[in-house]
Amino acid sequence: MRIEFTETVLRDAQQSLIATRMPFSAFEQILPTLNVAGFRALECWGGATFDACLRYLNEDPWERLRKINALAPDVKLQMLLRGQNLLGYKHYPDDAVRLFVKKSVENGIDVIRVFDALNDLRNIETAVKQGLESGAEVQGCICYTISPIHDLNSFVETAKGLYAMGVQSICIKDMAGILSPKDAYETVKAVKAAVPLPLELHTHSTTGMGFMTLLEAVQAGCDVIDTAVSSMSGGTSQPATETMDYVLRQYGYETGLDAKKLREINAFFKSYRDECLRSGLLNPLVMGTATDALTYQIPGGMLSNLVAQLTAQKKLDRLDEVLAEVPRVRKDLGYPPLVTPMSQMVGVQAVSNVLNGRYKSISMEVKAYVRGEYGRAPGEVSEELRRLVLGESSPLNCRYADMLPPVVDETRKKLGKLAKSDEDVCTYIAFPALAEKYFEQREEAKKRTYSYTIRSVEEDVT
Ligand code: CO
Repeated sequence: MRIEFTETVLRDAQQSLIATRMPFSAFEQILPTLNVAGFRALECWGGATFDACLRYLNEDPWERLRKINALAPDVKLQMLLRGQNLLGYKHYPDDAVRLFVKKSVENGIDVIRVFDALNDLRNIETAVKQGLESGAEVQGCICYTISPIHDLNSFVETAKGLYAMGVQSICIKDMAGILSPKDAYETVKAVKAAVPLPLELHTHSTTGMGFMTLLEAVQAGCDVIDTAVSSMSGGTSQPATETMDYVLRQYGYETGLDAKKLREINAFFKSYRDECLRSGLLNPLVMGTATDALTYQIPGGMLSNLVAQLTAQKKLDRLDEVLAEVPRVRKDLGYPPLVTPMSQMVGVQAVSNVLNGRYKSISMEVKAYVRGEYGRAPGEVSEELRRLVLGESSPLNCRYADMLPPVVDETRKKLGKLAKSDEDVCTYIAFPALAEKYFEQREEAKKRTYSYTIRSVEEDVT
């Protein structure tokens, strides 16, 4: 029996624990070891890493990817892609999605994990097709959630749709850590029975079920699990790699992991983690178990966002009301899974409903969602909300991206010399303001180095 591991320390683990603030320099030295530890893949790019590189770390995300690839050339590099949303929060036209996916593969990505927040497969079609054409392994996601309209059957239908699309593997993506061991067992069994593809499980330790959930999933026939090296595991991150390795070996599974290398990797990240604890970047609370998500069925990240929003408005005393409003807003929206960008949308609207009155003000994003610009709502949008947003008209019938004009050529022209490559063009399309700032800084830095060189040459002469 064989089970494989995807190591998440470079993407989801650090995204969940330290808000994606890990610079390349913090993990550069350990890449050669990560390369040979026996992982199926290293999840190291996409999700919030792209945004964080530009926004907080002054790093070119593409350059980061190339450097990772140079130092870890043998292990597969995996990214997380939000389908038609790429790595952002809105839908992009198809030409942008195609270029972005193509460039990701060219720069070193081997496995593209694609999801759509609504499980609307039309929103991942372009990315999947381009990923396959570019020669990557494309993994399609089932976003796991709990609601009156989501059940085993609906997840199996999503899996069948992904299979029909040509993905090479499937991931059950439990972004909130609310997939229980029993439900994991049943879901894995059902999906494996319906679709002849490798199946991977992604969960979080937030609620404390993570280890049990992974164990049950493996017993049910899951082929790959997502884990994080122990010093960066637990809490809002993934269950620990070494622990699952130890346990599954006892059950007779061949994991392919090198325990000695895992110890090295752990020692390395342990000192980084301790540094984060000292600096305050890592709040020890996020590493603990929080069962609130079981009560409210919302991801840990969303809960801390709500607390932050209310604190900023000095309204933290209304938290209980907001937590009661979240499921109502979610119902009104037709039970979208609470993953980016839906988690933010539902959270902001719930806060507004409590503070300003129900739907007295409706966010731009919720309006766009009701118009169908994020895809098909999993269930029915409430009559009240539909009327408030649409009046007598009806939501979009087609895929929103079908209405978006191409942007790539126009962006190339607009950027001119400021863009040094198509990677730059992609960066600009995804995050225009951040990109512009980054490009300007880059130019400045270059000028500084240049004048410094000239000066030192002059010094040499004199
Ligand atoms: Co995750």
